[in-house]
Amino acid sequence: MMETSDLRMTRIPIKHGTGQMPALGFGTLIPDAALTIAATKDALEAGFRHFDCAERYRNEREVGTALREVLAAGGVTREEVFMTTKLWNSNHRPERVEPAFEASLERLGIKYLDLYLIHTPFAFQPGEEQDPRDQNGNVLYDEGVTLLDTWKALETLVDHGKCRAIGLSDIGLDKVKTIYESARIKPAAVQVESHPYLPETELLEYCKEKGIVLLAFAPLGHGMTPGLMADPVISALAARVGKTPAQVLLAWAVQRGTALLTTPTTAARAKENFDIARLPEDAFDEINRIQIRQRLNPVVNTGIPGFIPAKGQSA
Ligand SMILES: NC(=O)c1ccc[n+]([C@@H]2O[C@H](COP(=O)([O-])OP(=O)(O)OC[C@H]3O[C@@H](n4cnc5c(N)ncnc54)[C@H](OP(=O)(O)O)[C@@H]3O)[C@@H](O)[C@H]2O)c1
Repeated sequence: MMETSDLRMTRIPIKHGTGQMPALGFGTLIPDAALTIAATKDALEAGFRHFDCAERYRNEREVGTALREVLAAGGVTREEVFMTTKLWNSNHRPERVEPAFEASLERLGIKYLDLYLIHTPFAFQPGEEQDPRDQNGNVLYDEGVTLLDTWKALETLVDHGKCRAIGLSDIGLDKVKTIYESARIKPAAVQVESHPYLPETELLEYCKEKGIVLLAFAPLGHGMTPGLMADPVISALAARVGKTPAQVLLAWAVQRGTALLTTPTTAARAKENFDIARLPEDAFDEINRIQIRQRLNPVVNTGIPGFIPAKGQSA
């Protein structure tokens, strides 16, 4: 991995695919359409060049609007921006993959994707309903398709040249191994919750060994309080190195070799979260010694995501 001392421009080469992923990624899970546009533009203006989207966030069109406006103003080109989106659970059937992919491209207003992820390994009943439930409110899963079937359909997207890399999300090490071992085109990236309370060390080691980028979401613990940003170790280190707790947590994530996704929703926080610098080794080690373990997002167990805007709240 190429790193500069200030970490802002760290890029991770994509081994299984094409290009380089900027380690600092902006996540677009924002429950309001107007805020999605404003926050995405602020992130581009602050320097973010990596954007994480999903059909399930129901705001790809707004992200595309922001991207188009910033590209049209000049100074940033599409080639400089790393764009990711994700296939939702109700589109796992192979025949649904390419139409879902094309629909995302259309909403984002772009001609190719840098990375396409299977959002979760859980297949839901196929169809337009993203959250299919029975009368008792239980999710309707689809037993008629395997993760490998869906993966093979993603491989075809790479063959067709509109997608530079493919990957997985909300998944444990065992399933990553299974796909890695069976795949013709290996996963380029795996997106999971990861922060000092959930370092996912075993998964990270496997990913490093196989040349897979680990893409950490919730690097700030989803901003929950009380939580990571008020952790005494993090607060004390922030005071010591003259950075904010958010900057310390993001630097730690980049320094351990992961890419990350953060979602600041103001211009000031976008600048803050982009302005990260290498931590001294002893500070980095101190964070590694934190013993608290906490998973914040249960999506990995069920495929049902938290923090998703309700239908109609966002386009
Ligand atoms: N694969 C999946 O299932 C999955 C699940 C969850 C998330 N994700 C991805 O990961 C992205 C990141 O989401 P996240 O919730 O994990 O992001 P995060 O950066 O860990 O947390 C975002 C929260 O932190 C707050 N925040 C951001 N910067 C801050 C700062 N400098 N100081 C204080 N508070 C700050 C934000 O508040 P304000 O809004 O007030 O700025 C927001 O409430 C998502 O947008 C999405 O792309 C993926």
